[in-house]
Amino acid sequence: MKLSRGLPLISCVALSAATATNEPQPPESERAGYKIPTPYESAVQGRRLLALTTLGTLATVFPDDSPSSSPNKRSDGVSSQENRPPGMGGMPHGLMEYVADCEDEGNPTMLAINVETSFKNARAGSNISLAMQWAPPYPPNKRIKSYYPSFLDYFLGRSDGVASSKKEAVPYSAANLPRFSVLGYIANVEPEKKAEMSACFVKAHPDAKYWLPGNRIHESEFVRLVVQQVYWIGGFGDRAYIGWLPVNDWKNITRKEIEDIKLPGEKKGWDEWSIRDWVEL
Ligand SMILES: *[C@@H]1O[C@H](CO)[C@@H](O)[C@H](O)[C@H]1NC(C)=O
Ligand SMILES: *[C@@H]1O[C@H](CO)[C@@H](O)[C@H](O)[C@H]1NC(C)=O
Repeated sequence: MKLSRGLPLISCVALSAATATNEPQPPESERAGYKIPTPYESAVQGRRLLALTTLGTLATVFPDDSPSSSPNKRSDGVSSQENRPPGMGGMPHGLMEYVADCEDEGNPTMLAINVETSFKNARAGSNISLAMQWAPPYPPNKRIKSYYPSFLDYFLGRSDGVASSKKEAVPYSAANLPRFSVLGYIANVEPEKKAEMSACFVKAHPDAKYWLPGNRIHESEFVRLVVQQVYWIGGFGDRAYIGWLPVNDWKNITRKEIEDIKLPGEKKGWDEWSIRDWVEL
């Protein structure tokens, strides 16, 4: 476990607390009663995140420029990388993608539209990375505060973070919540699983019914990301595991294990940072 990876925010508050009392402090995680999850426990959290989250950022790499991929060179007259600016070979390319957890091994399911750049890159041999983050359905009751509010803050009503929250992307500390990147390659899902995949995928993405395989507008097919590596950040480093997860564990986790845990903020009334028993902000 890398305790040293605590974020500056944590160190900052810990420093203030230590300064305030002038006493040597035990490690932050002990003081706050945290037990850092093991890589295995983190993998279970990751699988739950995958089960409950339906959007991700899919990153691919553009294939090298080559005569066959430049416009007007294909014998059928269709350019395979139409209008791609030159010199993009090797450039990474990340885009939002619909994801569903339709198989049992933690290999995310996607519906590849054949004209989409990401899937063209994958077909041209790109390895891929899919990043997903946990977005809790409820904001926390208790927010993280990274500073001691001044009298002026109280006077101006800024003590509860409301004023600053207008600039925040989300009403919680996203940096303290789980996220992962799964790395691997794209493989077609077996055609005989099409009905099963369609039902599962449309449950996660009702609008995707318009571009299921066999639709009249786009050529599409179900694919799986065959996971080869998993990089995990469970939250701040003093209370969460950060690092690579054992991929065999990732694939072997059962639905029961996934159903038996909860991620932060799945229920109302959560504290995103329960350190108030040792630092009164
Ligand atoms: C994909 O990753 C593998 C290692 O897992 C590597 O051997 C291969 O060269 C990569 N493919 C491309 C196109 O970069
Ligand atoms: C997979 O899980 C089962 C039981 O949950 C266990 O017996 C088995 O050893 C695990 N396999 C691996 C490769 O971890």
